[in-house]
Amino acid sequence: MERTFLELHSKYSIAEVSPWIFGGFLEHLGRSIYEGVFDPQSVHADNDGMRTDVIAALAELEMTIVRYPGGNFTSGYHWLDGIGPRDQRPTVRELAWQSLEPNTFGTDEFISLCRKLNWQPMLAVNLGTGTPEEARNWLEYCNSPVGSRFADLRRDNGSTDPHHVPVWCLGNEMDGPWQLGHVPAEQYAIRAQQAAKMMRDTDRSIATVACGSSSPAMPTYLEWDRTVLEHIGSLADYVSLHRYVGNESDDTADFLALSASIDAQIESVDACARYVQAKQRSRKRAYLCFDEWNVWYRARGGPHADGQGKFAPALLEEIYNLEDALVVGLFLNSFIRHADVVKIANLAQLVNVIGPILTRGDELLKQSIFYAFRMISTRKHGVALRPHVDGPSYTSTSHGDVTFLDASAILDGNQLHVFAINRNLETHMPLKVRLADGALTRALSSEILTGTPKAANSFDDPNAVRAVPFDGWSVDGTASADLPPVSLTATTFELG
Ligand code: AHR
Repeated sequence: MERTFLELHSKYSIAEVSPWIFGGFLEHLGRSIYEGVFDPQSVHADNDGMRTDVIAALAELEMTIVRYPGGNFTSGYHWLDGIGPRDQRPTVRELAWQSLEPNTFGTDEFISLCRKLNWQPMLAVNLGTGTPEEARNWLEYCNSPVGSRFADLRRDNGSTDPHHVPVWCLGNEMDGPWQLGHVPAEQYAIRAQQAAKMMRDTDRSIATVACGSSSPAMPTYLEWDRTVLEHIGSLADYVSLHRYVGNESDDTADFLALSASIDAQIESVDACARYVQAKQRSRKRAYLCFDEWNVWYRARGGPHADGQGKFAPALLEEIYNLEDALVVGLFLNSFIRHADVVKIANLAQLVNVIGPILTRGDELLKQSIFYAFRMISTRKHGVALRPHVDGPSYTSTSHGDVTFLDASAILDGNQLHVFAINRNLETHMPLKVRLADGALTRALSSEILTGTPKAANSFDDPNAVRAVPFDGWSVDGTASADLPPVSLTATTFELG
């Protein structure tokens, strides 16, 4: 194949990469919490009932911020059910996923998990069946100093110091008819504005996330976002985006061209936010919070989403292959390329439920997407550079022309991180990386994820897809390598 050039210049920077784009999402759904992160019966359980093997694997992902407790779950959740002595917490019928919820994991357990993993907590309030005041009370429970009703309740439950939750989502996917308490945009906007006002009056330090469209496929896409942002105005610091993608037509080349559509979604929602800002002559700009994203299409709908009244049913247990991992890389590359607008992003989800990690009894399996996330997340610090890709392209079935190379780059002092996805299904890609105003002196570390598109890990074959060291770089001012077909390479170069 003809050579591809990735051209960079340190002055052509986009913005500092927000570490919060390497976030995660933990929902009361299926075996995500129970049998996932929290399993007091497991041989791996610590004194708090958390699974130490799961925690060790999650730690490798170096996530920075994690959203909780949902998701669709949040729109029927009453946070008071999940605090206090565990044996006094109610077991309730959970409607979003038709499951039985014992509430033995709640706010304080989540905060304790965050502290173990060095995550910032991010809570989503119930604006489906809950009230703005209930949301405000939860914030007081979490963030206020002792001396008032709900903060004192927190102290009584063992935490004198506030939990300091910095980011609060004003509901979840309220544009979707599947959502408990779904209403038209105007009505959601009123609820969200009321909640945000009371929440800000409780703690002025928090950032709020208004529900944007749950997918670009929604009939109200962008119109919903505009309506909500216009009504909430400066009370919203972020607007949310969600995106789940799949290879339903088994067209891998098209699946790997999705980056064009992810870029377009980010740019469209940003355009909407800027439109509202300009129209309102506001100095405040709502940034983008991509708080649910992943590949999800096989374990979707029907029995995959119906817990049939059971406790911890196996729901949304997607098995990920190599092509899915590359798509996870495409998402992260797109977030880095839009570092000036995407400030928070949360991989949905963490364990068992569309997760990078699966558990089976006391066993644990790392899925293909685990490696894609880890390879990029562990090289997250620095300033995103504008990548200029000069090389062969192909015409995809639904996303137009894309170059075979999808890339992003982060400059961190005298180090340059480069993330390169070769979406050619057949041939190696001769790639040259050039920093126009600097010399690359050596590859400090490089890892690759490659193989056949449908290769996937299983408990019987746990290492079918995993990141391995890549020593194919020849570095002499510029860096050259032949990247295998269907591959993701993450490299840190030293600059001279
Ligand atoms: O992540 C699974 C579900 O997808 C979430 O609960 C919901 O917000 C979205 O539709």
